[in-house]
Amino acid sequence: MPAPDSGYTGTERGAAPPSEEAQRALMLKQAVASEIAKVYIGDVRTTDLLLVALLARGHVLLEGVPGIAKTTLIKTFARTLGCRFSRVQFTPDLLPADITGTYVLDLRDSTFVLRKGPIFANIVLADEINRAPAKTQSALLEAMQENQVTIEGQTQELPTPFVVLATQNPVEQEGVYLLPEAQVDRFLFKVVLGYPTYEEERRVLMTYNVPVPDVDTVLSPEDIHAMAAAAERVYIAPSLLDYIVRLVQHTRTHQAVLLGASPRASLALMRCAKALAFLHGRDHVLPDDVRSLMAPVLNHRIILSPEAELDQVSVNEVLAECLAAVPYNREA
Ligand SMILES: Nc1ncnc2c1ncn2[C@@H]1O[C@H](COP(=O)(O)OP(=O)(O)OP(=O)(O)O)[C@@H](O)[C@H]1O
Ligand SMILES: [Mg+2]
Repeated sequence: MPAPDSGYTGTERGAAPPSEEAQRALMLKQAVASEIAKVYIGDVRTTDLLLVALLARGHVLLEGVPGIAKTTLIKTFARTLGCRFSRVQFTPDLLPADITGTYVLDLRDSTFVLRKGPIFANIVLADEINRAPAKTQSALLEAMQENQVTIEGQTQELPTPFVVLATQNPVEQEGVYLLPEAQVDRFLFKVVLGYPTYEEERRVLMTYNVPVPDVDTVLSPEDIHAMAAAAERVYIAPSLLDYIVRLVQHTRTHQAVLLGASPRASLALMRCAKALAFLHGRDHVLPDDVRSLMAPVLNHRIILSPEAELDQVSVNEVLAECLAAVPYNREA
């Protein structure tokens, strides 16, 4: 049963048992989480968010200081998926063609053939994305927006699923190029990874030098397609659509905010809430699904006013205030 404070009464939608599809999703989610846990020690909610992005067909920006296993987490996640994986290390001298690919002369028959770049994969790890200059970042971000790339005037479709998992260091670090706001908006989530807890860090030390167990593949591209399609069919009540719109609109009028979240953000919140509900084995969205996704979906899409910045107000504080100020109204 949902928690009493979730605002869900069960009257909007009969409390039907989870369908076979939903039960399988729950099982696969747990399987992915336990494979990742073989290597990455940390909050399981991060793993859930990676799966939500995969099902909602979105891209993830993973932010955190060096040395907290961002790369390790993404590489392990990719290993649980039976998909084509590639990795691009972003550096100041990386060129757009290093990502997309280029035509090279085949001397055997004097024709130009396309040598596809690492973007032609299902899961692309764009590591330290903010270490490359804007032009190179744009090549990646265009591909993310359009699911295609143009090389020498020829448009090439990218494979499906196509998910970019990018990592970046916080902007205060040296030698980083800030991603432009309009481009950051193309990421479905920004997940901020913090330091491990005391217990977690002890476990990292204890498992050092212990041979890493094999990480098994638990999801095939077909599974991912089927699960993404099923997640889209999850029911979301009109009262919850209303809740999402009111929450997102509230960010636009909050006094500490210069630029609030766009309708792209409302759509993202709805799609992710459905995917999260599905991964929890439900056929309907609960208000808590929306609440728990508010921060990762919106935290990179809000620009604070200069005064709020000076007062060291954080985006997360603003989002928490929006959640507190906007009640869920079941009757809407
Ligand atoms: N929570 C953790 N669980 C497992 N291993 C960890 C954890 N935190 C750190 N490590 C270990 O620390 C090392 C650094 O990890 P990794 O290279 O993935 O970090 P990163 O966040 O990508 O760093 P950078 O920003 O410098 O690229 C690895 O050897 C990894 O195994
Ligand atoms: Mg790294």
